Order: sequence, then C-alpha cells, then structure tokens
Amino acid sequence: MTKSRLLLLGRVLSFVRRPRGAGDRESYTYIPNGLIVVDEGRITAVADAADIDQFRTDGSVLRNFSGKLILPGFIDTHIHFPQTQVIASYGTQLLEWLEKYTFPAEQRYADPAHAAAGARFFLDELLRNGTTSAVVYGSVHKSAAEALFAESAARGTMMLAGKTCMDRNAPPALRDSAQSAYDDTTALIKAWHRQGRQRVVITPRFAITSTPEQLEAVGALMRENPDCLLQTHMSENLKEIAFVRELFPERAGYLDVYDHYGLIGPRTLLGHCIHLTADEIARMSESGAVAVFCPTSNLFIGSGLFDAQGLERGATPVRTALATDVGGGTSYSMLVTAAEAYKVMQLRGQTLSALEAFDWMTRANAEAIGEADVGRIEAGALADLVVLDPTATPAMAHRMDAVSGDLEEELFILMTLGTDRNVAATFAAGREYRF
Ligand code: GUN
Ligand code: ZN
Repeated sequence: MTKSRLLLLGRVLSFVRRPRGAGDRESYTYIPNGLIVVDEGRITAVADAADIDQFRTDGSVLRNFSGKLILPGFIDTHIHFPQTQVIASYGTQLLEWLEKYTFPAEQRYADPAHAAAGARFFLDELLRNGTTSAVVYGSVHKSAAEALFAESAARGTMMLAGKTCMDRNAPPALRDSAQSAYDDTTALIKAWHRQGRQRVVITPRFAITSTPEQLEAVGALMRENPDCLLQTHMSENLKEIAFVRELFPERAGYLDVYDHYGLIGPRTLLGHCIHLTADEIARMSESGAVAVFCPTSNLFIGSGLFDAQGLERGATPVRTALATDVGGGTSYSMLVTAAEAYKVMQLRGQTLSALEAFDWMTRANAEAIGEADVGRIEAGALADLVVLDPTATPAMAHRMDAVSGDLEEELFILMTLGTDRNVAATFAAGREYRF
C-alpha cells in the first residue's frame, strides 16, 4: 500500500454543492497550503501541509505544487472523438456542417489504424487540458469505440462512450441498421461497460439520423441496460427542429420523439437544448434529463444562446452540465468553455460566477453523469486532479498582480484567460501527466 503513496502539495479547491452565485463560501472547501495523500490511485486523506510528517512513508513520493491550484480533474460531458480534424471548419450551420465536414471525417474511422491514432491524439489532448473524464460520441463503427476504450484504459482516464447509432440521412458508409446498432452496442456493453473506469453510453446521434425502428431498438437497450447513460442531441438548430417535425409529424415535438421511445429520464444527456418549448422544459424537469450546454459550439455553428439560468433556476428546474462539443466546439479546454459560457450568459442578461463555472467543470458535471468517485477532492475519491498555474503566461501573471489575494477574482481571471497553457500537470487515477 505504501509503495505508491503520493503526497501532493498545493492550493486545494473542491466543491461540495452548487454555488448560489458569487460569494457563496459554503459551496466549496479551500486549503491554501493543502496536502493530498494518494494511495493506489485513490485519495486517502486531505490535510494541511503542516501535517505532512504523519503521512510520510518510506516509499512516498512528494510532488510540490505550492502556489498552484489543485482541482478535481475536469469532466467534459459532450465531445466527439472522431471530430479532431473537423474542429474549425468554415462557414456552415449544423445540417450543412454535418454533411460537408463531419460525415466525411467520421467515415475515415472505419480504418482501425486511423481510429487508434485518433484515439491517442484525442486522449493526449484531453489530458493536456486537464480533462480526466469525458462523455464521448464515437463514429458509427464499433471498432473505433473499442480503440478509444483501449487507449483510455491504458492511460487511466474514464471514457463514457458509445458507437453512434445512425441508420438514415447519412452517407451509406456511415449507416448501421436498427439490428446492428442494437447488436454492436450490446457487444460493446459486454466487453467494456464498467471494465475498470470505462463506461458504455447508448448513443443515437439524433432523431434525424435514426428511423423509428432504430429508436425502438435504442429503447430496448435502455430497458435492458439500466446502468447505462444515453446521449443524443436535441433542439440545437431551427432547421434541424423543422426537419424532425417533418420526419415525426405524429409526435408533439422533438423531445416527444425521444420520450415516445422511452429515451427520456435521469440517465439521459441531451446536447444543446437551445430552442425548447415550455412543455419540453417542464418534461425535462420532471424526468431528470440533463441539458448539456456547449457554448463554443453553439456560438461557432451559430446555433443560439442556451438559457442556462432559465433552465437551472426556472419554475421547473432542469439539470444542466457543461461541455466542449469538439469538433462543433472550438476548444478542448474546459476553461475556455467556461469563458464562452460566461459570454453567452452575458448576451442573455445573465451572469456566471467563477464558483459556478468551476463547480460545473468538476462536481456538477460528475453529478450529471452519476459518477460519485470523481469531481471532488476528498478521501475515498479517485485521484483525478488538475494542477493549474494561474500565472502561466505574461499577460495572466500581469493581470494576477492586480489581485489582492481574492480567490474568486483569481478564478474568474483563470477561466476568462486560461487555456491548456495553465495546466501544469494532470493526474488520472493517480498517474501523473506533466506539461
Ligand atoms: N447533431 C447531430 N450530430 C451532431 C454533431 O456531431 N455535432 C453537433 N454539434 N450537433 C450534432
Ligand atoms: Zn455533439
């Protein structure tokens, strides 16, 4: 047990509940001279650095990050692993963007060598940005999802991922069928679900690319696998919504399509949720489904402004999560994502405190995906950690010089100006990656 003990020194910040705006000091714990004790990849104690002697053992390794912030590893709740060469594609909105850039790029993931190389790049990039857990859309190919899980298992990260199910309105090479979507997802679940840290997520792409037969099959997968999350897209773009109405005229609306097939509940992550009706908001609230806010994507593809406060604090409150949505999104960084979330909310006359933003990236996203072992720095949690240097660039060091020790002000600057350059190290289940 003592063989692999790690002792980390730094400024330890972890959230205990959703902050109620700026200044909510009860929502987090902060130890300015903190010590995190890690044994076999798990946190066994969190203490003051002054008490370090009682935790030293013969084989313990000390990592001194004094002055730097240590937070729970970031959790990205919506990202596409075959879109690393789609990010930053010019000039289109959703449906044309899918056809022109995304589907061609995803077709290349039929090639196992391309998928394996893509998985390596993807996971390296997440770790460089401090992200240790992610909810991931694969391509339609089962083999590509397997490649991602294998690479993730080798790195100690947690991927919650699925092969994307799509049997219409996509190029023939990217179409599965109701039966093969069911069979491939079931096989993936048998091989990878809860294999160590890996999780299989049932992943119909969106209503446009699934026939009613496939949505029936996805409903069966949900019933047969009560332990799996489901992810899909909903109400991102007005033309998308109009197309869904054409395809499913008998349904009351977009959410009702998914609801009809038994896909809506507390295990459901719905990407985007920008253009919702009052009935849909009420149904999401009642069902416990999660609305996933993808600000860089929503701005870049020109989709619209997510109503974060309206959903979170409205009469029928909806659970929310924050995500990058690369490659519609334009950054792998959850810091950049939080900065853009702030700007989207400003455009709606709302605001986003640094406390809420950092809680979103860590504890709240963990809650949204139902994972208790991540998103917090406490004895018993996995040692998924990000070490942040708020003064990593000259402009940030200069700006921080004007802060007189106020943690929230520092965090706000960090989320507004921060990128992967601020990530000094990332730990995935205790394994260190340095940058
Ligand atoms: N809707 C269906 N597929 C996608 C996708 O890959 N990205 C985004 N942003 N929206 C989608
Ligand atoms: Zn997406």
